[in-house]
Amino acid sequence: VTEEPAKESEELTNAKKIVLGVAVVGNESSWRNVNTESIREAAEGEKDIELVMQNAQGSQEKQIQIIRNFIARKVDAIAFSPIVETGWDEVLKEAKDAGIPILLTDRKVKVEDDSLWTTFIGSDFIEEGRRAARWLVEREQSESSGGRQVNIVELQGTKGSAPAIERKKGFEEVLSENEAFHIVASEIGDFTLESGQQLMEKVLRSGIKPDVVFAHNDDMALGAIKALEQAGLKPGTDIQVLSVDATRVAFQAMIAQKLNMSVECNPLLGPQIMKAVKDLAAGKEIPLNIITAEGIFTQETAKREFSIRKY
Ligand code: AHR
Repeated sequence: VTEEPAKESEELTNAKKIVLGVAVVGNESSWRNVNTESIREAAEGEKDIELVMQNAQGSQEKQIQIIRNFIARKVDAIAFSPIVETGWDEVLKEAKDAGIPILLTDRKVKVEDDSLWTTFIGSDFIEEGRRAARWLVEREQSESSGGRQVNIVELQGTKGSAPAIERKKGFEEVLSENEAFHIVASEIGDFTLESGQQLMEKVLRSGIKPDVVFAHNDDMALGAIKALEQAGLKPGTDIQVLSVDATRVAFQAMIAQKLNMSVECNPLLGPQIMKAVKDLAAGKEIPLNIITAEGIFTQETAKREFSIRKY
């Protein structure tokens, strides 16, 4: 993602356009790149919206700075996916005082006053964690190995981020209902392939040989797959690998039988964001939560779906 500060001349000639400031998380994953592109493309299709997009490169401090910069420029609305859940009260209060609505996209915040944000557009991360766990429980119960004890390694996304906190919560919630499942290691990464690989290497060095790896996103799962293969193990066969996102890279890994399943997390939020921005500008009431409907994909369904996959 490149920085796209609005040009002075454009601002003058497009005086009546709705100026939308978007503070992007970074480029940590395949999912994020598709999400950023979806917002850019959707804005390009809107003649009434001028998009100003800047990239926080994974730093909360930078994301706050970008939001402050948008407030100073008096944009009409600010959309952002908060890198972590907490630490937003002050800057969101500044936006509220300036009369600028905040659209939380993809990730939620934890603030004392929920009137500091106007709407949330994205996925139910707790449910995503539950979906991965439900699939695992059902699969284990239907296998001939049913009844065995299952050792799981969890590879978490960015510390303090909503998807890492909530996917973990949903996953554990379902597993806690069944005594055969044990999370024997839970390591914290940052949603990148590199962190998935490094964490998996670390776990294997410690002597743990898991039956299952649950990675909080596809990129981390791909990194784990690399590490497992380098250790002479067979991900997808000897070791079940589960992830979240269901981006194209996950489909390729499922078709290659190295990834067992991926829970869908739809990054194509651009059109919904633009609709919300236009509705707000028109003075319409918009829903507090706009949640995307999603499913799961497995090795069995991956081939069929891959050809029609949009991301
Ligand atoms: O917030 C969504 C998560 O962030 C995606 O699952 C992950 O791939 C991304 O980096």
